[in-house]
Amino acid sequence: MDDSMMEQPSIIQVCVTCRTQADLQAPTPEDGTEAKRSGQKLYERLQDRQNAQESGTNAHVLIQPVECMNGCQSACTASVQAAGKYAFLIANLDDSDERLDDLLSFAAAHAASKDGLPAWRERPVHVRKNTLARLHPPILTKDGSSSAQ
Ligand code: FES
Repeated sequence: MDDSMMEQPSIIQVCVTCRTQADLQAPTPEDGTEAKRSGQKLYERLQDRQNAQESGTNAHVLIQPVECMNGCQSACTASVQAAGKYAFLIANLDDSDERLDDLLSFAAAHAASKDGLPAWRERPVHVRKNTLARLHPPILTKDGSSSAQ
């Protein structure tokens, strides 16, 4: 892996369609509109943090909204990924300050790591205990085909 991999940003993709149990049990507003989903709230708060350049954020982390990542039973979910690096799917998130700090600090450690595998001690406890998947970077040959057999 060349050094340019370490300079590229890591991306937090937040599932904005996630609904927690609390969302599902909340009464429907009288005007019939749907209340804002927990995933959308998480995404908006992360964006606010990034825009305000508060602690834990940096230029090497980008935030993007996505729809379902098939972790609905463990909402809210977000992934942390970058080209050529390991990718993580993290569950049971919410828009609390503590979870925002967890996600942003993990993404910063992911961006700073060579292969997307920050040392265990650099991973927030919530991330250690709520990682649903750790996906290996694809292995491609020069012509773009997979080298896997
Ligand atoms: S709706 Fe968020 S993971 Fe399915």
